[in-house]
Amino acid sequence: MARSSYRPKRPEAREETPLFLQIARQVADDIRRRVLRPGALLPSSRELALALGVHRSTAVAALSELLAQGWVQTQPRRGTFVSERFPEERPRHLGKLPVLPRAALDLPEPPPPEPFPVIPADVLPLVGGTPDHRLMPAAELARAYRRALARSSRLLGYGPEHGDAKLREVLAAQLREVRHVPVDADGVMVTRGSQMALFLLGRVLSHPERVIAVEGLGYRPCWDAFRLSGARLVPLPVDGEGLSVMALEELVARERVSAVYTTPHHQYPTTVTLTAPRRLQLLAMARRHGFVVVEDDYDYEHHYDGRAVLPLASVDADVVAYVGTLSKVLAPGLRVGYLVARPEVLERAAGIRRFVDRAGDHVVERAVAELLEDDVVGRHVRRTRRVYAERRDSLVYELTRKLAGALSFRAPAGGMALWARVTAPGVSSDAWAASALEQRVLVHPARRFRFDGRESPHLRLGFAPLRPEEIREAVARLARALPSTSRPSARSTAGR
Ligand SMILES: Cc1ncc(COP(=O)(O)O)c(C=O)c1O
Repeated sequence: MARSSYRPKRPEAREETPLFLQIARQVADDIRRRVLRPGALLPSSRELALALGVHRSTAVAALSELLAQGWVQTQPRRGTFVSERFPEERPRHLGKLPVLPRAALDLPEPPPPEPFPVIPADVLPLVGGTPDHRLMPAAELARAYRRALARSSRLLGYGPEHGDAKLREVLAAQLREVRHVPVDADGVMVTRGSQMALFLLGRVLSHPERVIAVEGLGYRPCWDAFRLSGARLVPLPVDGEGLSVMALEELVARERVSAVYTTPHHQYPTTVTLTAPRRLQLLAMARRHGFVVVEDDYDYEHHYDGRAVLPLASVDADVVAYVGTLSKVLAPGLRVGYLVARPEVLERAAGIRRFVDRAGDHVVERAVAELLEDDVVGRHVRRTRRVYAERRDSLVYELTRKLAGALSFRAPAGGMALWARVTAPGVSSDAWAASALEQRVLVHPARRFRFDGRESPHLRLGFAPLRPEEIREAVARLARALPSTSRPSARSTAGR
């Protein structure tokens, strides 16, 4: 087999970015800068690991990240190659203007986090996070958008940074009635997705002498947003009852904490619900130590077994900054989320937003307000809840049929994904995810969610965007991709 002489520069163990991401980023940069040309052969994971002095699984993870982002392609028995789909960047000749050489820019560190990967069309996304866009009530949204514009062209002017007044009112009413969060329209700020709310909270809550505690198995886009504000983050363990409040007790005994970020309803990525005693303990600690609990309730509506658990904000809205989104209910592309917090937090967040985004898209916001008020969203939620519960059951059925003995899991009570432990002997979650991608199915290994970026034997498997027949095919591909060091036995799965 041919060998590649290319070697990326060594990753820095001191950096906060995990080693595998540093390597992937370096290779992507070299592809972008044409150091590596389309079709060029990359070193194997073994060569890469040896050359960079990293563990083999780190090299495998870096290559699979590149594969997931479409930078490289694999050819069975030949190796990994730079994707051919990157066209040569030719300088555009504008009349007789000379083409200037690239000026060197002295950009301050740190570089921004990775761009969002685009999933190739022939890859089945067995990943959590997005709803099935094919179910979206698009016609109703289009009509509502047209009506919003026709009734009030003022919505196209500069609007208030807190968002469309009507949407704030409708959201507040629904939050009060359905989730028992004591809030009126003034206490709600509409944001572009929860990501903006998290970013703004990062700015408001970062403090040079205090830390922000986060779930050590958790949501990287939030950590990245907080870090952009200079926040020092401390990861806390997560177990079968959710965030470890005991570990938080230990942290507050030695550090000043300005905020705790948590996903109590369906912990991201494990899907467990924070237990009642821990909820009460967390809120009591927040009062005692004067920190804010950032509650990311990204997935309230998708609860299948029993009733959804009411948010922390319904118990003590004083210490909670509550973040919600319509990304899971309607579509992430709408970029409609919201923040509920006490006035001094909300006003500071709005003040910062003014300089980034001025205000949101008030026409879309008005249209969404109408869909909420007319129960179009409500009907859609009730329908998709049934659809997604069925898809969860399909995934559980297929995994039990094809991968019993290789994966162990508990069916989640809600959410859009399932957290499974890899029990196949000698199989790493990274290697399995990488070979799954070669079989054209995308799954996320645990490393992606770990604060320390290390490998651990779990996969997160999402079911919402795939129909049952697609789930069947995705699981068949996942089974085919199971590294050959292991063969699934017929043992049934249970527990974690
Ligand atoms: C934990 C978590 N929070 C928030 C979001 C939603 O993000 P946004 O509202 O910015 O689309 C997601 C989406 O994947 C998520 O997984």
